[in-house]
Amino acid sequence: MKQVIADRTSGAAVALKRSEAKPIDEYLNLSEAELFERIQAAKKTLGDRVVILGHHYQRDDVICHADLTGDSFKLSQLAAERHDAEHLVFCGVHFMAESADILSAAHQQVILPDMAAGCSMADMARLDQVEDAWEQLQQLGITDVLPITYMNSAANIKAFCGRHNGVVCTSSNALPLFKWAFAQREKLFFFPDEHLGRNTGIKFGIPLEQMVVWDPRLELGGNTPDQLRQAKIILWKGFCSVHGRFQARHVDDRRAEHPDIKVLVHPECCYEVVAKSDLNGSTEFIIKTIAEAPAGSKWAVGTELNLVNRLAKRHPDKFVTLLAPDLCMCATMFRIAPENLCWSLENLVAGQVVNHISVDAETARWAKLALDRMLAIQ
Ligand code: 13P
Ligand code: SF4
Repeated sequence: MKQVIADRTSGAAVALKRSEAKPIDEYLNLSEAELFERIQAAKKTLGDRVVILGHHYQRDDVICHADLTGDSFKLSQLAAERHDAEHLVFCGVHFMAESADILSAAHQQVILPDMAAGCSMADMARLDQVEDAWEQLQQLGITDVLPITYMNSAANIKAFCGRHNGVVCTSSNALPLFKWAFAQREKLFFFPDEHLGRNTGIKFGIPLEQMVVWDPRLELGGNTPDQLRQAKIILWKGFCSVHGRFQARHVDDRRAEHPDIKVLVHPECCYEVVAKSDLNGSTEFIIKTIAEAPAGSKWAVGTELNLVNRLAKRHPDKFVTLLAPDLCMCATMFRIAPENLCWSLENLVAGQVVNHISVDAETARWAKLALDRMLAIQ
């Protein structure tokens, strides 16, 4: 049986016998302590040849092995800058690993320890749907429009933006990128996160009534031609299932329990939650805000559970709690586990690259244009 992986340096397909790679099964029964030891040992053997990048939503038993951590913007910057290591092991989700592959140097290989670590929001905008929407807008004569995709999207969606003079943004730079985009065109088409788009539009000063939602299942996205012509921002109907769990009533409940609590949320939360919060920003912003807060301060945080629990542990002198009462965990981020991290590292030690993330050269070229525009505008 053959396993085919793509070789990003030549674009050629390289065939490997599956038997050459260590199977994952033997890792599934290892104890926590054994996994920890073996991951550390593999890192030591690999030395500078490997850098482990970790997103802030990673679980504690994985993030503890990361050489560098960040939000999705910082991780993309690191991938664009750290050209020393041969391998970037990405503890995060698929779209982040794809971006790292696009931004890293030709001699580097990006590895995602579990290929099933995707993002349900990114899956909500497919290229054929975006192209169809774009075509419908063009047919209406709506041409003075600039596409912006959230980092949480597939590489081919980023490439679409690259081809159409558009850009990528993250939750930490959406506002400056909206400013840049509105200096180019009179209208924005934002995908796939309706909420980040709306929250950023509001910060930019666009009233709610000048934003419409594009539902890809409906003709004209469910809008009339006039609504589309008058809108300043067309928002793709996509959302994060984790941040979608936070509701405005949770803000009221937390404030009723603790009148002096501050509410700090990620801008993937809906507008009603963000409007009622005290502060909103990327995961890096959330971490920094709580780190810099005075001892004794109280925080209800509307973001992924692993990060909130870590912040509570890291700052015992502050009260840090999840904004919602029920579990808000990103199940796909959680798929990166010590077992598959250990498996991918020990395979590297044995000379095998498993779970290589490789974006085809043509897609990578256009997506890089949109990512480079983002990295240049701060
Ligand atoms: P950050 O860019 O804020 O880290 O967010 C990424 C993400 O997927 C949030 O759900
Ligand atoms: Fe995607 Fe939401 Fe998970 Fe972020 S938290 S990776 S947006 S599903």
